[in-house]
This record gives sequence, C-alpha cells and structure tokens, in this order.
Amino acid sequence: MSLVSEVSPLQRIADDLAEHGWSQQPLFLPYIPTLELATECRQRASLGELAPAAIGRGTGQQVREGVRGDRIQWIEPGQSVACDRYLATLEELRLVLNQTLFLGLEDFEGHFAMYPPGAFYARHLDRFHDDDRRTVSTVFYLNQDWQTADGGELRLHLDAGWHDVPPIGGTLMVFLSAGMLHEVLPATRERMSLTGWFRRRAVLPL
Ligand code: OGA
Ligand code: MN
Repeated sequence: MSLVSEVSPLQRIADDLAEHGWSQQPLFLPYIPTLELATECRQRASLGELAPAAIGRGTGQQVREGVRGDRIQWIEPGQSVACDRYLATLEELRLVLNQTLFLGLEDFEGHFAMYPPGAFYARHLDRFHDDDRRTVSTVFYLNQDWQTADGGELRLHLDAGWHDVPPIGGTLMVFLSAGMLHEVLPATRERMSLTGWFRRRAVLPL
C-alpha cells in the first residue's frame, strides 16, 4: 500500500480554492473531448449563433466593445454529447466543492465564448452588483497549438502582483467569483473557451 494518498483532480481544485482562491488545471480534459467542444464552438460561430456579449444584467445590460469584445452562446443540456459530458464532469466538481468547502452551489450556467483577434475583456469581477448567486467561475480553454506569442492570457490580479494563464486547449481555470479581479488580454488569433459559473441560492433579494 502506498503511503502517499492519491488526491483526485477534482479534490485538488477544491484544495486550491480553499488555499488561495483559484486553481489552474493544465490537462483537465484529454485531447479528443477538448477538440469536440472546440469544433462545436467553431461550428456555432460560423452559423452565426454567437452574439456580442453584454455587460450587467436585465435592464442594465449593454454591449460595450471597449470593455468586452467576445461573442457568446449559452449552452443547454441535451444540445450535444460533448456539452453533456462536460456538464456531467462539472456536476461532479460541484459536488466535491460543496462537500469540501460548504459553498452550497446549486446549479451551473455556461456559455461558449469566442474572442476575435484583438478583442479583450477589461479588468472585472464576475459577481453582479444586483445578483450575488455566481460563486465559482470556471473557464475551460479550447485552443489548439496556442503559442506564447499568441497572447490572450487570462490575467488574475492578486495581492502580490498578477498571474497570467495562457488559454491552452484542455486547461481549466477555476476561481472564486466574488473576490478575484481578472481580465482577458488581447490575442493575435481567435480565442475560444467554455466559460461558466456555479451559483448558490440568492442572498440579496432579486
Ligand atoms: C469572463 C471571463 C476569462 C477568460 O467571461 O467573465 O473573465 O479567460 N473570461 O476567457
Ligand atoms: Mn470574468
């Protein structure tokens, strides 16, 4: 019997979040499922299904390309085998996070996102002022053969400076939505992800 206990990848994410509020998982999914999601994202984009992303909620929503230049489409259960598998994996993660961190996460909402070359998302928090349900942010990258020179890093603003994450296909980033200031830097090529949020029950009245 090994003296070193095996920590599952999902448990490692929970431990990272507890320790410093974010987790970077370089090979969260293997090549094929990542490629299937990338293919679906690209197909949906070429069919014109991705729309300019808005900022804020409800009547406060507006599109401002100076703040956020991506196009998105929300994913729904049952739309494809690849998305359903991804949702099933994130459901496992939701349960582990609840067991370990007692976050009371109730559901997940997610969308494909595509940033054209040069697009960015200025520094922000993922929690809205008038809706505090978003609790844990997840960003899964879909980009094959991403090179350092392509740019497009996710920049986490930390107390001690910053941490840059290149959007390499197969990488999952997880962070606490309320406290982690972050931004997306411009890239020289198209940048795709499947981004989402685990939500808890509303505490503020909606
Ligand atoms: C977002 C976001 C980060 C990324 O969509 O809110 O911050 O790396 N995305 O795409
Ligand atoms: Mn964000």
